[in-house]
Amino acid sequence: MIEEARLPLLIVDSKGRIIFANKWLKKCMGYIRLEFLNNNLQNLCAPYEQNRYIFSCLPDIKRTTEVDIDLQQKNGEIFTANVSFAPFDYRQARHLLIIVRDVTSRRIREVKIREDEERYHRLLVERNMLQDQLHRSSKVAFMGELAAGIAHEINNPLGIILGFVQDILDEIPLNDPLIEPIKIIEQETARCVNVVKNLLDFARLKPPERIPVDIVELLESSIVLMTPRIKKNKVSIKRDFDMEPPSIKVDPQLVQQVFLNIMINAIQAMPDTGVLAFGIGIASKAQLHKPGDWIQITISDTGIGISEKDIHRVFDPFFTTKGSKGTGLGLSVCQRIMEDHKGKIEIENLKGAGTICSLYFPIKD
Ligand SMILES: Nc1ncnc2c1ncn2[C@@H]1O[C@H](COP(=O)(O)OP(=O)(O)OP(=O)(O)O)[C@@H](O)[C@H]1O
Ligand SMILES: [Mg+2]
Repeated sequence: MIEEARLPLLIVDSKGRIIFANKWLKKCMGYIRLEFLNNNLQNLCAPYEQNRYIFSCLPDIKRTTEVDIDLQQKNGEIFTANVSFAPFDYRQARHLLIIVRDVTSRRIREVKIREDEERYHRLLVERNMLQDQLHRSSKVAFMGELAAGIAHEINNPLGIILGFVQDILDEIPLNDPLIEPIKIIEQETARCVNVVKNLLDFARLKPPERIPVDIVELLESSIVLMTPRIKKNKVSIKRDFDMEPPSIKVDPQLVQQVFLNIMINAIQAMPDTGVLAFGIGIASKAQLHKPGDWIQITISDTGIGISEKDIHRVFDPFFTTKGSKGTGLGLSVCQRIMEDHKGKIEIENLKGAGTICSLYFPIKD
């Protein structure tokens, strides 16, 4: 009956020695009867399957157990089978009836379903990212137009006010009681000029004019520009440059603006002493959603850090925690410049204290 069964069947003893195989099994494995007998069950498996745990506990199998195993036909071809081990006693010795079902097509289906699910998940993440980007871009474009309009209107009057105030300050004697209020007018007007300049920078961001640039040199020259502020806040500088990066094509003026904005934020976060650290390396980041190598520049500080509730908003135009001292445009300008360079900017809190800002520039573009 077993011989005629339309399923590949075999019987093994408790050591896994084959004592019977029906003709279906011979047919599906490509062996002749003699090649089966006294052979070991493990030898029917693909080489990488021969040490499976199940083979070491055959005598202990108490009830029918099923496992998927890759079997190897005589011609070397491998197929996945669902193998069930049904124990029974024969002449007072433990034996196992083994039924083999080819499940290659089921496995292929399962793998395909898994792949489809992964692809769907990836597409979903990408779609959400694009949606975010679109939302941000339209918001930024609107803000930009608005800002440009306002800034343009008030730029000239502000310049005129500042000019007159400075003239008055030059003219009036130092002991005049009006000198203090006029100095305040000068300071506050200068601050407005700065806000307007930031607005115009933001609104008038030009597309990058890329040329080959030594990014380390550009970073070093930006650090030099920051020296007065660095000294004023008693900040020390640390460099951790793993390697000399290849030259890349960027717009040096715009990228310098990115370095400066990030450094200004870092220095502002450390009003009295701290460490401003720079790192350069190569990153192959899968999470950047585009394969390939990137130059990664990190700028970190040991300052006040960013609260959990704010960290998701720091790239929003006009988001600031600095009250009237900030316009909240620094990081949105950086993000736009990095996107225009097909790069990326990220900011995170550091474990101890402070933040780390990472810039990624594509090496090949
Ligand atoms: N290194 C940092 N440490 C702590 N907080 C930071 C840091 N960098 C950015 N932030 C937070 O992100 C906010 C937005 O930064 P962003 O540079 O865009 O604007 P801002 O510095 O407030 O104003 P602006 O740069 O226009 O003068 C900041 O107000 C601050 O709360
Ligand atoms: Mg800033």
